[in-house]
Amino acid sequence: MKSAPLIRIGICGLGTVGQGVWRHLTRVRGDLETRLGVRLELARASVRDLRKPRSVRLAPSRLTTDALEVATDPNIDIVCELIGGTTVARDVTLAALGCGKVVISANKALICGHGAEIFAMARKHGGHFLFEASVAGGIPIIKALREGLVANRFPLIYGILNGTCNYILTQMEEQDAPYTAVLGEAKRLGYAEADESLDVEGWDTAHKAAVLAYLAHRTWVKPSQMIVEGIDRITPADFKHAAALGYGIKLLAVIARDFATDELSVRVHPTLLPESHVVAKVSGVFNAVSVRGDVAGTTLYIGRGAGQDATSSAVISDLVDAVSLLKNDRRAFITARKESGPEQRAPGCRLAPLGHIRCRYYLRLKVSDEPGVLARIAAAMAAQKVSIASVIQSAQEPAGSASLVLTTHVSDERAMGATLARLARLGCVQEPPLLLRIGDFAD
Ligand code: HSE
Repeated sequence: MKSAPLIRIGICGLGTVGQGVWRHLTRVRGDLETRLGVRLELARASVRDLRKPRSVRLAPSRLTTDALEVATDPNIDIVCELIGGTTVARDVTLAALGCGKVVISANKALICGHGAEIFAMARKHGGHFLFEASVAGGIPIIKALREGLVANRFPLIYGILNGTCNYILTQMEEQDAPYTAVLGEAKRLGYAEADESLDVEGWDTAHKAAVLAYLAHRTWVKPSQMIVEGIDRITPADFKHAAALGYGIKLLAVIARDFATDELSVRVHPTLLPESHVVAKVSGVFNAVSVRGDVAGTTLYIGRGAGQDATSSAVISDLVDAVSLLKNDRRAFITARKESGPEQRAPGCRLAPLGHIRCRYYLRLKVSDEPGVLARIAAAMAAQKVSIASVIQSAQEPAGSASLVLTTHVSDERAMGATLARLARLGCVQEPPLLLRIGDFAD
């Protein structure tokens, strides 16, 4: 192997994922070298604090606190950006691509916010940007969309894209555990983002949905152009109400394109799914992505969506593609050039007005338990032509209050938004209602 070309890898950010990549790459390096016909060297890494204890050992001479030094080091061929965030990570990514390197990233927030700029930089300087680890952890969903399903158009992609939220929802449902205790556990297990509001408020899922929407539809959708709602208002009682109606609750991303009107919509929200639906049974840190292709039909991908090992697996898969690119392997080149090659836009794909999105709804209200309340609520809904499908009422603390759970027939976001505004004005409604969507995904 001495005569085999030497490929040098730099890792920017030796946090949970960076240390996992280092550890697993050290373990599988010999095998990969044989299969790829190259020598791989874990050349350098950047960290924030040189003295912080780490699970991987590396010579002090390989460590620096300057991520840009690694990104622009002329001896380094592949840069793994595992810093997170969108400031230093953006500088590092653009600097490395500006040097024509291959950059591997797990950073969905960065791609969502700066993807167009990053891909343009890669095109301009002949670099490549690979991002399998950015969506759904260990599930090779990026490869599935752009390679395995390349013959398809995608009318519907939906799924669980945030392991932290799925872990929290599962624990709340199965253990009747309080939200804050479960969130603490998810952080300890290394699932949550440094800023956990990204997870629980739905933004991390929105970033990942933006990446999938771009891959599937060549259209950048900003979170501000999506419905984005998190899980922080869901209570154990909602799981009980949902179960009584035959549903589980999952935080889903839904990317829908109507090819007749060519309208695309992207939304992220807690969703009631029929208990029998396979995605409703996906629990813990697992993610699930259902992809409806117009040629292949529906395919479903389930796997660990967060955590050191799952994410490292995806980064190392990109490393193998990166080596193929550096060796000018035609197959890998075809794989990567969709993003790094000339800008491509889906002709005629435009965003649907959010108010047009249609589904059935679940509405939980805390109301005064007195005569006429149900009639006033029904009237507020009828005024927006929202038709009630079912009502469950139960007593609630303090005495004189009641919990009302209503489901609706199919309505739309505009009508439901107007209904919520009307309900908020009623004196008998004691706190802001909780609105959840019901997912009717016929596969
Ligand atoms: N915080 C993310 C999650 C990590 O829980 O899914 C993986 O992207």
